[in-house]
Amino acid sequence: MENTPHGGILKDLVARDEPIAAQLKQEAATLKDIVLTERQLCDLELILNGGFSPLEGFMNQSDYNSVVDTLRVSDGTLFPMPITLDVSSGDIARLGISPGARLALRDPRDDEALAIITVQDVYTYDRVKEAIQVFGADDPAHPAVTYLRNRVKEYYVGGKVQAIQAPPHFDYVAYRYTPAQLRALFKKLSWSRVVAFQTRNPMHRAHRELTILAARQHQANVLVHPTVGMTKPGDVDHYTRVRVYEAIMDRYPNGMGHLALLPLAMRMAGPREAVWHAIIRRNFGATHFIVGRDHAGPGKNSQGKDFYGPYDAQELVTKYKDELQIEMVPFQQMTYLPSTDEYQPRDEVAAGVETLDISGTELRKRLKTGAAIPDWFSYDTVVKRLRESYPPRNKQGFVLFLTGLHNSGKDVIAQALQVALNEQGGRSVSVLLGDVVKDDMKPKSFTPEERHDNVQRVAFVASELARAGAAVIAAPVAPEERSRALVKDTIVSTAGSGGNFFLVHVATPLAHCESQDRRGVYAQARNGTIKGFVGVDVPYESPKKADLTVDVTTQNIPSIVRNVLLLLETSSLI
Ligand code: ADX
Repeated sequence: MENTPHGGILKDLVARDEPIAAQLKQEAATLKDIVLTERQLCDLELILNGGFSPLEGFMNQSDYNSVVDTLRVSDGTLFPMPITLDVSSGDIARLGISPGARLALRDPRDDEALAIITVQDVYTYDRVKEAIQVFGADDPAHPAVTYLRNRVKEYYVGGKVQAIQAPPHFDYVAYRYTPAQLRALFKKLSWSRVVAFQTRNPMHRAHRELTILAARQHQANVLVHPTVGMTKPGDVDHYTRVRVYEAIMDRYPNGMGHLALLPLAMRMAGPREAVWHAIIRRNFGATHFIVGRDHAGPGKNSQGKDFYGPYDAQELVTKYKDELQIEMVPFQQMTYLPSTDEYQPRDEVAAGVETLDISGTELRKRLKTGAAIPDWFSYDTVVKRLRESYPPRNKQGFVLFLTGLHNSGKDVIAQALQVALNEQGGRSVSVLLGDVVKDDMKPKSFTPEERHDNVQRVAFVASELARAGAAVIAAPVAPEERSRALVKDTIVSTAGSGGNFFLVHVATPLAHCESQDRRGVYAQARNGTIKGFVGVDVPYESPKKADLTVDVTTQNIPSIVRNVLLLLETSSLI
């Protein structure tokens, strides 16, 4: 039984346009371009390869409105997610985008033309309505709402696309399949029943048991089909996850499972997303689709409540089951039964039977601290791969960011800290002193903007070093709150560094700093030879919230160093 694609025909635009792709490429060179965002790139890939069949382009206004209101495009076909090409008002004017125009859609990574869109319409939309209808609430705690508010441009451009080439991938090429390729593979393997498993997380034993149970119930094979496009911010990076999936594939009975990667940009839209996922898996040739607890859930809203009920996704998929033509395999939370060493859906566990679970939060904690992860929860090979990417805290890098006036003692403290950390061993230690960085990394002038930029250069270097596991002590003056906030953001958002950032305010009073003016710079600032000197004619904004505040007039250097080390110790970093 071969499952038909959604809408009847697989829209494999790359194959369809292949004979004229060279011609389209030449034409693209003469056209105005839109350089795609990461999300648009993911969407385009699935439009081009037919993952989003029957879509053949980005939605026009009538399809968009209809999808937002009714989960259907205007001809009535079920499609729950708006797939839109957002463009700024500036670009609309600059590129003269209007109906009938042809534009090249370019890959943001290398500017290659991937497709040509023939503009059908250009329209504005209601952000609040889209948030409420599609994601359930206009609440910035929802990642897609934050994305909609901050990143999505003012206009949507609708129109069909013609393919020049699929976006190329250089990672894990062997696991990447178009819907047509996956369908061909299933045919070759004589897999007539295939249960697809969506995931954006590392897989553990519960997930293996769940998929095997689903396969046994339906006499099907298993397609492990993880999302490797954009997932929820803060998720485990896809490189690590694919290594984990590789390890878990070895745990399937021989020949039962197959791994394929899906370049989907998730929206975390719970129920609507589950319906969308089902359509996509049908297009990729699956006959069954697993929907468990809290499928594509975005977490808690601003009131601390879940955006969606844990089984809302299953309900919505059930509502559309006749049209979806892919059978949902619903699951309650899988839970471990120590008495029999097996997993069972929670609703099937007899009353009084002992169960065990490890929550996502608990797992992250154990990975962070290096604590044991029991065999019943995961596999050694999976845990090993996670630990390689997420080393325990005593192996993670960190940034100590010392801010304070010139001569506040921050450089001396920085050097003393370097010595203390070298004594501890285990990490390479880098010191980025304000003066040294300024000499090595121009500019030398002192306008607030340049100073701000310089601090950001320090942050970039510090974040790269910390990501590689180093202890970094940075000590620029950094007099502005906005610069320090951006530094923190850079460090915290650097994947893998553990986001370990500590702001130490060296709050030595100005009078003392000035009394230590051996190089005469304060004197020069006072008499006007140097302009824009912090503390003299540029204010120093004291940090509103430092992790530690120290002052060399009230504490000696060794005691300050001890306080900083204590801070690192309480954070389990040393
Ligand atoms: S999701 O955002 O892709 O849905 P995740 O990768 O955690 O997140 O889950 C993938 C699928 O597995 C979803 O259908 C989810 O409901 C299901 N699932 C994950 N863990 C469990 C579990 N312990 N028990 C039952 N279902 C689960």
